[in-house]
Amino acid sequence: MSLRLGDIAPDFTAESTEGTVHFHDWIGDGWAILFSHPKNYTPVCTTELGYMAGLKPEFDRRGVKVLGVSVDKLEDHHGWAKDIEETQGHALNFPLLADDNRTIAELYGMIHPGELESLTVRTVFVIGPDKKIKLMITYPASTGRNFDEVLRVVDSLQLTAKHQVATPVNWTKGQDCIIVPALSDEDAKNKFPNGWKTIKPYLRLVPEPQD
Ligand code: BEZ
Repeated sequence: MSLRLGDIAPDFTAESTEGTVHFHDWIGDGWAILFSHPKNYTPVCTTELGYMAGLKPEFDRRGVKVLGVSVDKLEDHHGWAKDIEETQGHALNFPLLADDNRTIAELYGMIHPGELESLTVRTVFVIGPDKKIKLMITYPASTGRNFDEVLRVVDSLQLTAKHQVATPVNWTKGQDCIIVPALSDEDAKNKFPNGWKTIKPYLRLVPEPQD
């Protein structure tokens, strides 16, 4: 059966460019992103991995570890990493898993034969400290991902995990949030003593809660 949000992310042990990864242990108490790309030495993947390497300090700041995977062999990862640094201006700074036996690809449903017969498509899984899947995104081979969007969702996930708010369309950090409908006005007074703006009884806007 395919994975769903809220499922425990399947655990695995695999070799990577930075040594053996025992996935759940590797995640530890923080957050993680596991993302697949179809194949090494391909153009779109090269731009994606370079961009992700440039963005990695932002994920670090948020306590999110980054882990890439494809069905290529470990030695191919090492060779391709040089090209990524040369062409994209960022050296790989996160582990790349070698899943040439397709164990991880199968566990996570990353192979969509109607799109690519035996290679992984572009998937992104965001996993929380409880090891549950918080986000799944799947892109076709021809379309490079928007990793800024993944960062935006991480901001929303981390905020909404801590406070009883949701984030509206196109929300970015610092903008108003929505008080979750499950919270009554009475209870909201305790949580948000500075008040909120009621547009409709079910649509209540509040400044982004600070820690
Ligand atoms: C690419 O990264 O450019 C790519 C990889 C697999 C299929 C098509 C494109």
